[in-house]
Amino acid sequence: MLVLGIESSCDETGAAIVRDGRYLLSNVVASQIEVHNRYGGVVPEVASRQQLATIIPVIETALEKANCQWGDVDAIAATYGPGLAGSLLVGLTVGKALALARNLPFLGVNHLEAHIYANWLRREDAGKPHISLVDVLADWEYQEGDPIFPLICLVISGAHSELVLMRGHGQYELLGRTRDDAAGEAFDKVARILGLSYPGGPAIQEAAQRAEDELQQQKKSVALARNAYRLPRAWLRGTYDFSFSRLKTAVLHLAEGATDDPHVVRPSGSVGRKQVSQYTRIGAQAVQRGPMNIALLAASFQEAGVDVLAVKTRLAAQEYHVKQVVLAGGVAANISLRTRLEQELLPLRIRLSSPPIEFCTDNAAMIASAAFFHLSQGEQHGLDLDVQPGLSLPFRK
Ligand code: KG4
Ligand code: ZN
Repeated sequence: MLVLGIESSCDETGAAIVRDGRYLLSNVVASQIEVHNRYGGVVPEVASRQQLATIIPVIETALEKANCQWGDVDAIAATYGPGLAGSLLVGLTVGKALALARNLPFLGVNHLEAHIYANWLRREDAGKPHISLVDVLADWEYQEGDPIFPLICLVISGAHSELVLMRGHGQYELLGRTRDDAAGEAFDKVARILGLSYPGGPAIQEAAQRAEDELQQQKKSVALARNAYRLPRAWLRGTYDFSFSRLKTAVLHLAEGATDDPHVVRPSGSVGRKQVSQYTRIGAQAVQRGPMNIALLAASFQEAGVDVLAVKTRLAAQEYHVKQVVLAGGVAANISLRTRLEQELLPLRIRLSSPPIEFCTDNAAMIASAAFFHLSQGEQHGLDLDVQPGLSLPFRK
């Protein structure tokens, strides 16, 4: 089954053609990073206008790259939530209009579910048999190389941080979620505090790497960078919940008083609304005070975040006796997290699967993948489906 996937939930416009939910024929993403970088974050109005300008060329390019005609496409899928209403509306409307015009089945996809299904994607087309929409084989459920149920999934994106147990396709049990900032949100806000670019995740990862490289050149251990600052970790013992706001605030206090001496830790005080809205200004001052210090702070922040995410995920994997852990969402692209989690799981013989980096951040291939598993079970949506900006995963309890 060939599915055309469309993604437009935030600031990326994506279209992809995927065979049988796994094999990638094309994956086109038009990013708006440069447009939003000057504002230090996504401006919703600008994002939806950009979506409108790029969606048709992106879809045309995806068909072209996949060497596909419209007649080859079996179904169309588009994200209907969660995300920015204006952005979602563009992809969903175009997807429904194309399905109507081409008389094809249509499916609206939950963006978070799609992030999880990025783990089913493979770069190469292994030439597997084509599963048709009519003659769906049990083959849709499992093919060699797929993640194995039951599994624990750590969903960490710009707006979500959830630890989820999956016992089968489409079955989600919520184990824990963030009580304040999402992991990606914390990376983005801390990057602003430190005067680093948007999106914050990759910028912090790069700055942390610079600090580690510098220490390695000085023949010192990289652990010195990761522990340059003693930052708080919210363990919230007895739960699988997360919290990143104290960590973010600690970085804010340190950045205000940043000096080139990594061991200077200012006593913490209260942080008011006014100060928080001045992240960018504070960051700019801090950069002037010492780039190496900023890099060490980035490395220490990343380490604190990764520490909690990796340990709590490992604990959940142990408690629920799963065979596999999968990572999903933009923050899953973080190399430190991937390495650390692998180290946590290795002695337990639990496999970690993380999507290739380009499938971690927003893309349409994951939309087509998630759609395949629903379509294979006979699901479709009517063309009256509306956007749901606040949609969450369909949890069982
Ligand atoms: O899943 P995603 O592309 O969009 C949402 O659905 O929210 O996630 C975006 C988030 C941003 O907060 C971004 O800073 C973060 O993912 N991110 C990273 C990395 N790459 C992207 N965070 C940490 N390390 C990275 N390498
Ligand atoms: Zn996303």
